[in-house]
Amino acid sequence: MPSLVAPAMSVGHLAESDQPTLPVGDDVLLRPWLLTDAAAVREAFQDPAIQRWHVRRADSLDEAREWIEGWRSGWREETGAHWAVVDAESDTLLGRVALKSLVLTDGKAELAYWMVPSARGGGLCPRAVMVLTRWALGKGGFHRIELEHSTANRPSCRVAIKAGFEEEGIRRRAWLHADGWHDVHLHARIRQDS
Ligand SMILES: CC(C)(COP(=O)(O)OP(=O)(O)OC[C@H]1O[C@@H](n2cnc3c(N)ncnc32)[C@H](O)[C@@H]1OP(=O)(O)O)[C@@H](O)C(=O)NCCC(=O)NCCS
Repeated sequence: MPSLVAPAMSVGHLAESDQPTLPVGDDVLLRPWLLTDAAAVREAFQDPAIQRWHVRRADSLDEAREWIEGWRSGWREETGAHWAVVDAESDTLLGRVALKSLVLTDGKAELAYWMVPSARGGGLCPRAVMVLTRWALGKGGFHRIELEHSTANRPSCRVAIKAGFEEEGIRRRAWLHADGWHDVHLHARIRQDS
């Protein structure tokens, strides 16, 4: 049955080019993941806050490598776009920002992020989110980027607000976490906002 609407993004829009490295000022880069990041990812997932909000543990280097392989192949398969946030000089891992749940026909994606504990509190995550979102709604070709967090995760809400994501409402009891159901606060930026 033919569609009456042309897709917002064509298949191949991402995969036909290499995943870009995006500078965040002079001191930080968003770069594609490398398998050699596995030890730093495993270390990051020892943090209780990352475990709590991402509902996962990494028990071994092999598990961390498997995730990284999935994050890397997401670009070619156009199922996700995942970046390591690193110090531009030392390449030390500072965090992760990602676009997931891509729906190319609607030009839509969901943002995900964490920062390692030592990189928190200085506004790095909102800076990284703003750079990624500017790319996504520009060259990336997306029309709408959604950002969701548990209503119990105040730091994440502050990131959304500081990065200019409008509040669109609460999805009741939408996520199941280790401590039970959470209400989820939805924010979004659309191309017209930028
Ligand atoms: C949410 C998170 C990514 C924020 O990153 P960040 O780079 O610290 O962001 P900011 O520096 O802008 O701080 C955001 C808020 O965190 C809180 N905060 C400040 N210092 C902090 C610290 N040292 N440690 C933890 N939170 C801190 C403050 O409420 C701050 O808001 P404010 O600037 O209005 O006071 C980070 O706390 C994190 O990785 N948390 C665990 C994983 C997670 O929650 N991921 C998101 C799932 S939806």
